[in-house]
Amino acid sequence: MARVAVVTGGTRGIGEAIAVALSDKGFKVVANYGGNDENARKFTERTGISAHKWDVGNFDACHEGIAQVEAEFGPVDVLVNNAGITRDTPLHKMTHQQWDDVIRTNLSSCFYMCHAVMDGMRKRGFGRIVNISSLNGQAGQFGQTNYSAAKAGILGFTKAVAQEGAAKGITCNAVAPGYTDTEMVRSVPPEVLEKLIRKIPVGRLCTAPEIARAVLFLVEDEAGFITGATVSVNGGQYYH
Ligand code: CAA
Repeated sequence: MARVAVVTGGTRGIGEAIAVALSDKGFKVVANYGGNDENARKFTERTGISAHKWDVGNFDACHEGIAQVEAEFGPVDVLVNNAGITRDTPLHKMTHQQWDDVIRTNLSSCFYMCHAVMDGMRKRGFGRIVNISSLNGQAGQFGQTNYSAAKAGILGFTKAVAQEGAAKGITCNAVAPGYTDTEMVRSVPPEVLEKLIRKIPVGRLCTAPEIARAVLFLVEDEAGFITGATVSVNGGQYYH
């Protein structure tokens, strides 16, 4: 039987590429999304993948979302915490709201979603969790104290979950993308983006399917000994 995989923020950008790659590999994929119904409808039309709306920054909504998915599709064996937002501005201009929104949506969401699937994974003795971090969580980024903190937090969270899940067949790993050709990166001012691309040794933005490839590797049944790892996919921009 195909394993059920949930990808948060799965109808656009990197999330869409991950959802499609998992589906192509035979997983039964559910893409979560947060707000854009029209985009989600087009995504399902395009890919045949079911899209389910809930706010990953809301604990109860995550539990309800997973309960609905499990009732419809069966137990969730694979969780990819990909949903994320940016509210870029230097710290001295950052509002409390901009800080909270990014920490809640990008970091607390990983706890909420893992919490919703963890009991089931523990009972079944199998789970694959991949959290999407960022180069900017590893290296820091001007204008992103909120985002860098959330993405760095994901790395610690991942290592702790890996230790807790290890004896129960649950792996938890992070993928840390560099600058990838998505709407999020394209919304950086063009002159800033140009400078950022000049810093990438490979000389171009990453593509979303190149990130998906790393996720696929980590969620296979055969990947049971890889846990607590961070896979950097950044064109050689940063080593840690
Ligand atoms: N390092 C040092 N100084 C920098 C800088 C940097 N990287 N970037 C800008 N500055 C300087 C500018 O030269 C300018 O200096 P002066 O005041 O002396 O002229 C000053 O900072 C600009 O400061 P402001 O207070 O005016 O900044 P702003 O309010 O205009 O905000 C910004 C600028 C919104 C942060 C803008 O620089 C920006 O968007 N930067 C890109 C942030 C970024 O990389 N976001 C990534 C989004 S994609 C993503 O996050 C995906 C992923 O995981 C990789």
